[in-house]
Amino acid sequence: MNPTYDFTGKVALVTGAGGGMGLATAQAYARTGAAVVLADLDGQAVRAAADELTSAGHQALAIPCDVSDEDQAAALIDRTVEHFGRLDMAFNNAGIMIPLADAADEDASAFDRVNAVNLRGVWACMKHELRRMRTQDSGGAIVNCSSLGGLVGNPQRASYHATKHGVIGLTSSAALEYAPRGIRINAVCPGTMKTPMVAGMIAKGELDPETAAADAPIGRLGTAQEIAEAVLWLNSPAAGYVVGVALPVDGGYVAR
Ligand SMILES: NC(=O)c1ccc[n+]([C@@H]2O[C@H](COP(=O)([O-])OP(=O)(O)OC[C@H]3O[C@@H](n4cnc5c(N)ncnc54)[C@H](O)[C@@H]3O)[C@@H](O)[C@H]2O)c1
Repeated sequence: MNPTYDFTGKVALVTGAGGGMGLATAQAYARTGAAVVLADLDGQAVRAAADELTSAGHQALAIPCDVSDEDQAAALIDRTVEHFGRLDMAFNNAGIMIPLADAADEDASAFDRVNAVNLRGVWACMKHELRRMRTQDSGGAIVNCSSLGGLVGNPQRASYHATKHGVIGLTSSAALEYAPRGIRINAVCPGTMKTPMVAGMIAKGELDPETAAADAPIGRLGTAQEIAEAVLWLNSPAAGYVVGVALPVDGGYVAR
């Protein structure tokens, strides 16, 4: 199945678009005709990705941004609107993993950093996206990136999973506030997907790909493209009655 969308005239913002599922989603948005803003801490990566999209005839703009800094998140939305005139859809995806640790041994600085990026970053971006979208007659749609770790616990991942549970709380509360105002907010909960983040965990011996594949009833890891498909759908009019959900895209992991 290959659903297609026509987002011509729309503007989409993706954070963490320098690689992994953010990049796949930004590329997917560009193919639908949307103008896309690619934001990432790694300015070089988003500039290269935006150049490639522009060369292929798409409208793309790279904005280096640390989402954990609210001023930078606010400036990101301001620049998006200055450049493309509006903001219709956002995927608040930027996130980090921290080293696995026993809950009694977790490092406070790792706790602070993972919260700053994964939870505060989503909070800051969503806040400033909403400030813009609520001024638009056409409203908007936002997807926040949680995880299967937002729905279940796993040993040695307490802090990371806490951030992803937090993203679902932000999503459902803001979704209730903004559904009556024409802005739909949902979350996506990826399982174990083949991205640079997971490649890094495999390289460090923190994740065994065969065990992870066996843990998903579907029997394989997911792809970044499969998250892009879910995000485009959630942010599209096809999902016009979908509000405040935390959608697992995990090969059946949380259904076990
Ligand atoms: N890969 C998985 O299996 C998986 C599973 C569940 C959830 N997730 C979540 O999905 C999201 C994307 O993961 P991925 O696997 O594509 O990761 P990735 O590491 O491949 O890509 C993440 C991108 O975010 C950027 N980033 C990191 N910190 C940032 C910051 N402070 N400001 C702006 N950008 C920043 C990185 O530079 C990178 O380009 C994350 O929120 C992650 O927690 C991933």
